[in-house]
Amino acid sequence: KHKVIFDTDPGVDDAMALYFALAHTDIDVIGITTTFGNVTVEQATTNALYLTRIAGRAIPVAQGVNVPFAKAPGTPPDFIHGADGLGNLPSRIEAGGQAEPLSAAEFIVKMARQHPGEITLVAVGPLGNLGLALKLEPQLPKLLKQVVLMAGAVDEPGNVSPVAEANVWNDPDAADLVFTAGWDLTMVGLDVTHRVVLLSKFFERLAQHHKHVAMDTLHHAVMFYSDFYSSIRPDMGHGCYGHDVLAFVWLVAPELFKTQSGRVRVATEGIANGQTMMAKLAIPYPQAGWEADKPETRVCMEVDAAACEKLIAEVLASDWLL
Ligand code: BDR
Ligand code: CA
Repeated sequence: KHKVIFDTDPGVDDAMALYFALAHTDIDVIGITTTFGNVTVEQATTNALYLTRIAGRAIPVAQGVNVPFAKAPGTPPDFIHGADGLGNLPSRIEAGGQAEPLSAAEFIVKMARQHPGEITLVAVGPLGNLGLALKLEPQLPKLLKQVVLMAGAVDEPGNVSPVAEANVWNDPDAADLVFTAGWDLTMVGLDVTHRVVLLSKFFERLAQHHKHVAMDTLHHAVMFYSDFYSSIRPDMGHGCYGHDVLAFVWLVAPELFKTQSGRVRVATEGIANGQTMMAKLAIPYPQAGWEADKPETRVCMEVDAAACEKLIAEVLASDWLL
């Protein structure tokens, strides 16, 4: 079983990812850490507590960073995930739950020390919590088993600027720290997440199947998210990208992806701010090797989209809701 800490800014596709992880029998989510991104960090924490508690799971939630490392903080847009991050839910049931007394970075370090070499960190928001945890514990890359990111774009255009993906754009300095830290690192970015479209009908069927507040919540959120994506990509039908859920799909079914390894750096200023650049091994860089001293990242470049959709459907339709 994969022991996972889930670093997230829920967020509609974050909610999808969380429920996929909770539903999957090979994944054990031992903690959730929150960050600003799709919403403020306070709202992200509220949502993480809500989504887990309504699904019947009392997983610890530790609140993390509320601003980027260096760039000026911005206001999260409300037209993609809704002002509340879950597509403006009309109401919420009483679900309880309270955040941990530790910060996200402290929580990550504490758990990594308790379970050396065992924890997979799946991060699907801006990367400040991981950056801060690295500063607290420079040995963290050795203490974690691996890190899987939904972040970045190599050949695919960005979704915030022509070159920047949102999670990297939101904190490029933290992202660059994470890409150069030296852990076993996998990047699941727009090169693959833009290949997997999930139709809102699919979530409607899941909600009918489960008849459970957790699935109703996800369905409502996905309807809002799909309104946005269908407005910018009318050809996709009423649906959305699965972005964050693909980080978990990679974890449990890496054979569905083609990866390429290379050194990745992030532009932290100027017109390309937030761009992830990769030195593909096949290209010899004559100037003594671009960033030759930096570690490599395993980057997902292609995906079997149909197989992903099938797996997501099977896992979410399984009997997992308490
Ligand atoms: C990423 O940005 C966020 O809006 C999504 O939750 C996902 O993590 C996609 O670029
Ligand atoms: Ca996210």
